[in-house]
Amino acid sequence: MAQNPIRIGFVGCGRQATAAWYPNFATIPELDLAACCDLQPELAERNARFYGARRWYTSLEQMLAAETLDAVMVVGPPLMHYECGKQVLEAGLHLMMEKPAALRTEQAQELAELAAAKGVITQIGHNMRHAPGVQKFRELMAMPAFGKLLYLESRYFMPSPMWHETADVRTGWNYMIFQATHAVDLARGIAGEIESVYARLSVGEEGRFAIACAVAFASGAAGTITLTGCTPNWTCQLEAAGDARAHLRLVNLHTLEFEPHTAESGYRPSPGIPGNYWKPATRDNAEVRSGYWGQMQAFARAVQRGQPDSPTLRDAHRAMVVCDAILDSIEQRSPIDLPKS
Ligand SMILES: NC(=O)c1ccc[n+]([C@@H]2O[C@H](COP(=O)([O-])OP(=O)(O)OC[C@H]3O[C@@H](n4cnc5c(N)ncnc54)[C@H](O)[C@@H]3O)[C@@H](O)[C@H]2O)c1
Repeated sequence: MAQNPIRIGFVGCGRQATAAWYPNFATIPELDLAACCDLQPELAERNARFYGARRWYTSLEQMLAAETLDAVMVVGPPLMHYECGKQVLEAGLHLMMEKPAALRTEQAQELAELAAAKGVITQIGHNMRHAPGVQKFRELMAMPAFGKLLYLESRYFMPSPMWHETADVRTGWNYMIFQATHAVDLARGIAGEIESVYARLSVGEEGRFAIACAVAFASGAAGTITLTGCTPNWTCQLEAAGDARAHLRLVNLHTLEFEPHTAESGYRPSPGIPGNYWKPATRDNAEVRSGYWGQMQAFARAVQRGQPDSPTLRDAHRAMVVCDAILDSIEQRSPIDLPKS
């Protein structure tokens, strides 16, 4: 039997929310955009008109008081995530937020603990986990032809250096929680918990930089997280090797190559093994391809069935713990063991 759509109140009608989140409501029947909210009335009114919210507000408090909602989505800066997220959780509603979940690791932990105490479902917008290419990557990794994961690289190259000193937070922290967190979350999402990191930083002109970080996963797999703020374009890559002598590579979330071992050549794809080259259908738009659409649908379905999808607030907190450990490792020039999750 079809379930009722999840009644959503949406907080934040800024750039990212309007470009990557609101357009998806029209094509996800599991979601009902009941109301939206922004401190700036012209933005709240505009998004209600463009995307079909029945009412709009300039205060989350008023929205929560006036609406009957199942869940709230929050998209804006990290401090807003922490403050609005806390209000939503205290009201006992399910919560989905953009990344980063908070500015500080302790704040993300506080939110995760509050969510657990309230027994609500949470999800954080590490959108790439829900990209169709990443899901295909995981499907292929689960095949016997891939074997056990031995190695995973999660690469995230950016043009803009953000490696500068900022008031209130340690050097590099803003880069870690806004950008590096994508690579960290993907590594955890694909290969599981991270036990230790050993990172080196190289800094050049105008704060341009690169980081190579060796990672040990709890599964026993080895890995690397490689990051830059110096390349001409954004590039993201996942590369994995399995003990069935297979090689998997996903470039920029959209081009996937699977190279299983074959007895004849050792290297050429075998006709017996499906999907050794994959690209998303051309009708996919950018929101689908990069996972924004999929993550919203996954959240709606998680609320409907009463079981969380991922990444949860706990995952978001853990990604921040890993980000902290990478900075510790750079500063101390030594490997860092992470606390048990
Ligand atoms: N997943 C990704 O790849 C990705 C890409 C780009 C940006 N982002 C994330 O998006 C976020 C930035 O979002 P944005 O570009 O929409 O920001 P923005 O500054 O354009 O918009 C934030 C909006 O929230 C409103 N707001 C602030 N506090 C509020 C409150 N208490 N109640 C109601 N409204 C409030 C502001 O008026 C503003 O309109 C960042 O956290 C960034 O990490 C993620």
